[in-house]
Amino acid sequence: MTVVYFDSPIPDDERRRKLFGGDLFVYSPTPASLALVAFAREMAEAAFAPHFPPDAQHHLAGPAYVDVLASLKPTFINHPHSKELVRRVLTDLGVDPEQTYFDVPRLRTMTSDYLNAGLTLQFEPHRDTWFSAPMCQLNYWLPVYDVAEENVMAFHPPYFDCAVANSSRDYDYAEWVAHGRTSAAQQIDVETRKQPQIEQDIERHPDVRVITPPGGIVIFSGAHLHTTVPNTSGRTRFSIDFRVVNRTDVRDGIGAPNVDSACTGTTLGDFLRATDLTPLPADLIG
Ligand SMILES: [Fe+2]
Repeated sequence: MTVVYFDSPIPDDERRRKLFGGDLFVYSPTPASLALVAFAREMAEAAFAPHFPPDAQHHLAGPAYVDVLASLKPTFINHPHSKELVRRVLTDLGVDPEQTYFDVPRLRTMTSDYLNAGLTLQFEPHRDTWFSAPMCQLNYWLPVYDVAEENVMAFHPPYFDCAVANSSRDYDYAEWVAHGRTSAAQQIDVETRKQPQIEQDIERHPDVRVITPPGGIVIFSGAHLHTTVPNTSGRTRFSIDFRVVNRTDVRDGIGAPNVDSACTGTTLGDFLRATDLTPLPADLIG
């Protein structure tokens, strides 16, 4: 059974336990999530002007489009205001900022039937935990503009606690940081970087898709098998996501069950405390 909780007042400690069991939590936009979305829109609209960002793909040639993203995304990701707004989203949702650590918020784009590599990479079914995410990682996901069933994310709940053949055994996060990530902007048409991949067919349907208004928030375990569905909507999907861990979960080894992740290394060193942006203590990163 997978439960989808809507605007649930359940306290964060209990919510995380349910998320580690595969449940999903969905929230209406909060004041801070709307501010985060507005900030992303302002930045995207300036970068793509005079085009409306979800339609800009139809007006720019591939390399020009990728150039805009190559500067827009890091600007958003690294902006101090983005981090401040993430902290406020978390407190809007009742997390304890003293115990909560987040990775910088990513601005993602998924073009419609267009570029399909590098900065616009379309993901096959995967778990974030194949990419060295800790088992206690929770993902927060927000659409920046209206989304539809053809351009959101699909969850595959039957596989939450069921192993799927994958190549995470060949993935090492430290190696990725050293060699893989920096080359993303150079890859326009063909994806050649080595990333964990699914190695079997799965039953893709039925899947679960959550559609919220812009600024609505979906929270899910990083261990959920999920897919970015092929975008056939005619418009580019813009979304924001960030990853969150709770320090006591890290310390106590609490999280989703590891059914099939065999990668090495950990992304835990990337997480910053919501209050003061300090990293986790070294002894917890291991
Ligand atoms: Fe993912």
